[in-house]
Amino acid sequence: MSRVYEPTDHVVEKSLLPSFEQYQNMHKESLEDPESFWSELANEFYWQTPYQRGNIVSYNFNVDEGRIFVRWLEGSRTNICFNVLDRNVRNGLGERIAFYWEGNHPEDYSRITYMKLMDLVCQFANGLRERGIGKGDRVSIYMPMILETVVCMLACARIGAVHSVVFAGFSSDSLAERMSDCKAKAIVTADGAWRGEKLLVLKNTCDEAIQKAKEKYNHYVDMCIVVPHLDRVTPCGKIPDDVKTLYKWNEDIDIWWHDIVEGMSTICPPEWLTPDDPLFMLYTSGSTGKPKGVLHTTAGYMLYAAATFRYVFDHREKDIYWCTADVGWITGHTYVVYAPMANAATSVMFEGTPFFPDNDRFWAVCEKYKVTQFYTAPTAIRALTKFGDEMVKRHNLDSLRVLGSVGEPINPEAWLWYYNVVGQGRCSIVDTFWQTETGGHVLTSLPAATPMKPGAAGFPFFGVEPTIIDENGRVIEGVGEGYLVFARPWPGIMTSLYQDHNRYEDVYFRKFPGYYCTGDGARRDEDGFLWVTGRIDDMLNVSGHLMSTAEVEGVLTEDSNVAEAAVVSKPHPVKGESLYCFVILNEGAKFDADLIDSLKKRVRSRIGAFAAPDVIQHAPGLPKTRSGKIMRRILRKIAQGDKNVGDTSTLADPSIVDMLFLTRR
Ligand code: PRX
Repeated sequence: MSRVYEPTDHVVEKSLLPSFEQYQNMHKESLEDPESFWSELANEFYWQTPYQRGNIVSYNFNVDEGRIFVRWLEGSRTNICFNVLDRNVRNGLGERIAFYWEGNHPEDYSRITYMKLMDLVCQFANGLRERGIGKGDRVSIYMPMILETVVCMLACARIGAVHSVVFAGFSSDSLAERMSDCKAKAIVTADGAWRGEKLLVLKNTCDEAIQKAKEKYNHYVDMCIVVPHLDRVTPCGKIPDDVKTLYKWNEDIDIWWHDIVEGMSTICPPEWLTPDDPLFMLYTSGSTGKPKGVLHTTAGYMLYAAATFRYVFDHREKDIYWCTADVGWITGHTYVVYAPMANAATSVMFEGTPFFPDNDRFWAVCEKYKVTQFYTAPTAIRALTKFGDEMVKRHNLDSLRVLGSVGEPINPEAWLWYYNVVGQGRCSIVDTFWQTETGGHVLTSLPAATPMKPGAAGFPFFGVEPTIIDENGRVIEGVGEGYLVFARPWPGIMTSLYQDHNRYEDVYFRKFPGYYCTGDGARRDEDGFLWVTGRIDDMLNVSGHLMSTAEVEGVLTEDSNVAEAAVVSKPHPVKGESLYCFVILNEGAKFDADLIDSLKKRVRSRIGAFAAPDVIQHAPGLPKTRSGKIMRRILRKIAQGDKNVGDTSTLADPSIVDMLFLTRR
């Protein structure tokens, strides 16, 4: 039984949503009367044409009854850029800081107001228009975490161009594939950026990608817009006197950012978009290997981003909010850019890494800006616990109120450290479950309204109707575990996959007609808390017992010797599947027979004898994508001793694979 943590006075006082009862009432209303629920929020925004009453949402979720579609606020026309900039400025908030930018080097920082940001966005948008980019055109963005990235996304949104941000850690092959798939007219990048002491010359990766796009996909971009970023930041390592010698310049397509903007007006009429016009696309990995271009449109996404931010972070007027995610991922789109700005929030945008110049950078930045809401990923938390509590305690973190977690299930050990050490036992943790496809949080705790259990994602957000079903599509009421699906659309749900509506239907709607299938498993406990148990493909069935890898990993990391664990299934002649566990040890811990024995015993006693791991392997590291996701497909191959591991190009460090084969048991 997990302990229940109630929100403390520190969080409840002055909260927007201070009680569970209020949450329940609002959730009920959001399902029973979506029209009145969402139209109230919609009234805060500017609509060039309001939606037609009665048309808050229309949809079909059942493949057996025709094509799948979701349309929120039919009949409306609006623009998200106008709503997050001009609307705020018109409301008298032009002088408010939109972003405190904190560079990779602690001496590099700046700030920008809503008014100034609006001017820059309009100038860049006019520059794009002048060069022939307009509604419906795709623009790839391959940028570091700098303010121009936000400017570029919003400028695209303003003129109805569809931005396709590709995380700047992706290889040139991946970038080439993504920009060719969407037939991008332009690509926007920077000359380079520092990540800790490592210099990334993004322009070179872009050049390679442009070349590969031509050769492999016969796709030609019209222009490559480059921000000269390296000239204005403090070098964090060795660098030539003239940074321009680091890369080549192609007069035919390359153009400096300032040349696009120069002489442009700060007035730029927005393109008014319907719920069918795409706002942006973002590629996410698919099980078949080919990335899926998840498509979001404006009206519903805007409302949902705004609502989730407001309630999940309990946002208040003077707050300073910081989401550490890169804009290359959906978390960066929604919770670095659109959602905070839709609430006229002041945010920190961070270019660097948690480990530079020292392992306390996150806490130093929280202290510097007096951050009130801090939002990061469990993988970062686990990495930071290794350096000990003192790293946190040397900073004054009294301003913190809400701590967010996203991207994977958070193991109870990491949760407790986050809660007790970072949050000093008085902040609320919001474990936000969602996906690129969902646009915003779908399951989460709410800081002052819901109790917390370490590792539980909690409860559905407004408008969300989660259902747990078994393999045969039967609904599991009450306590139980199965597939996590959603029975109806919420405003943030994607509307299609870019130019592949069939795949959209097949991947998300065909398995269980009538439901959106997340691909994750979930469990509902006796108190009604929802626990996301991990991807269904990570489910293990040992001797007929269904369990999640996350569950076992949580137990392994409870051992003070273990920093991180990853569990995969290995085929077993009698049990069907058995558990193969990789463990990364904390500094100073010893991997020996005693430790193996005690870890096995711990799993047996915490979950059951059937869950006892067959193998515990010492891992020097785990095969992770650049976004920090463990590639279990590779671990399963290692567990099986199968050297045919397939594509490792998306790994942050492909050499880990060989090391794991060497330490295999
Ligand atoms: O498996 C779930 C996991 O991440 C998947 C979505 O990944 P992506 O589209 O890259 O978006 C990540 C950021 C929203 C989900 O299917 N996931 C995400 N958040 C959680 C999570 N699993 C458990 N708990 C979470 N809070």
